Amino acid sequence: MSILITGGAGYIGSHTCVELLEAGYDIVVIDNYVNSCPESLERVKKITGKDFPYYECDIRDRDGLDKVFAAQKIEAVIHFAGLKAVGESCQKPLEYYDNNITGTLTLLEAMRANGCKTIVFSSSATVYGAENQVPFVETMKTGTTTNPYGTTKLYIEGILQDVYKADNDWSVVLLRYFNPVGAHESGMIGEAPSFPNNLMPYISQVAVGKRECVNVFGDCYDTPDGTGVRDYIHVVDLAKGHVNAIQFALGRTGVEIFNLGTGHGVSVIELIKAFSEANGIEIPYKIVEPRAGDIAYCYANCDKAQRVLGWKAERDIKKMCEDTWRWQKNNPNGYNS
Ligand code: NAD
Ligand code: UFG
Repeated sequence: MSILITGGAGYIGSHTCVELLEAGYDIVVIDNYVNSCPESLERVKKITGKDFPYYECDIRDRDGLDKVFAAQKIEAVIHFAGLKAVGESCQKPLEYYDNNITGTLTLLEAMRANGCKTIVFSSSATVYGAENQVPFVETMKTGTTTNPYGTTKLYIEGILQDVYKADNDWSVVLLRYFNPVGAHESGMIGEAPSFPNNLMPYISQVAVGKRECVNVFGDCYDTPDGTGVRDYIHVVDLAKGHVNAIQFALGRTGVEIFNLGTGHGVSVIELIKAFSEANGIEIPYKIVEPRAGDIAYCYANCDKAQRVLGWKAERDIKKMCEDTWRWQKNNPNGYNS
């Protein structure tokens, strides 16, 4: 039996494929490569020395999904596939709702029709909104989202809860990621955005000389140095969290929510300095206007993941910066390098 990974060629998906293969799971990947390419999957094979099937398939393509279910024995799904750029989602809400929500509905219909009722879903800390106080705990009422991307996560969490309410045979795990950064230690897979919307990819593109300086979005927040504080988590720790989550999800039913973060907040300036120190590279930065929709603090309480899943993030900020840089300098143009 295999685990189907939707969006497995992407940043978090490819790292999760490595960890699942190394933990002894068989996997099948589908991706439409809208934000990735099959080269990442070839590199997963090189890193692990293991083979697995992958298909070019859109999660909105019901016939395509049925063919994959017919060809493979699938016992559970880890669902990463989705569009994720916050700014773009404000320009293209219909495309985001169609891709993320219609796509998830089509996937769930295909799963039900093929007797597969175990799913681990990539949700986000964004569902806590600005109303809750840090550290965010899973039992908090979800907040108000500020963009269509975040709203898709909130809606899909609700859809999955309703699916379980209607049919108690389902096993649903909602993973709320904080800020994934870093790359596999080999430097062979990592994050390869065409434009860096997030802080760590921006820093590493400044380091490699593709951008002049980091724009720090505001220094007037109510935080120790005035810049935004986030819970950065190494993508390999995050990927390992999925191995624990799938182990947990298989062989049970119900809906459970887990934060995957470190539980520690790091400011924008602290992250820039940590990257400089870890890699011995000067990172110029300047303070610019705050970015709309940003909040001062976002970090997790991760006690539940440790208690129930037996999982805890282990890699520190220095390691996150070193591994980001190894990937970036070896692959200055991502998988096209
Ligand atoms: P990513 O863009 O690297 O990976 C997503 C993958 O899904 C890509 O390979 C893309 O080609 C594929 N995809 C998108 N739409 C598809 C469709 N309709 N059919 C098939 N494949 C499709 O992003 P990521 O950073 O690896 O994120 C993975 C998941 O985690 C996403 O759902 C994202 O929203 C969520 N998440 C990411 C972050 C983050 O900061 N990276 C934070 C919280 C949640
Ligand atoms: N920032 C800068 N300059 C940049 C980019 C970011 O100063 O060029 C700042 C932001 O203002 C924020 C911090 O760096 O204070 C982190 O910003 P990111 O864009 O890296 O990450 P966010 O916390 O805004 O959002 C990320 C994902 C979302 C997800 C959220 C919570 O992009 O998809 O984490 O999981 F919803």
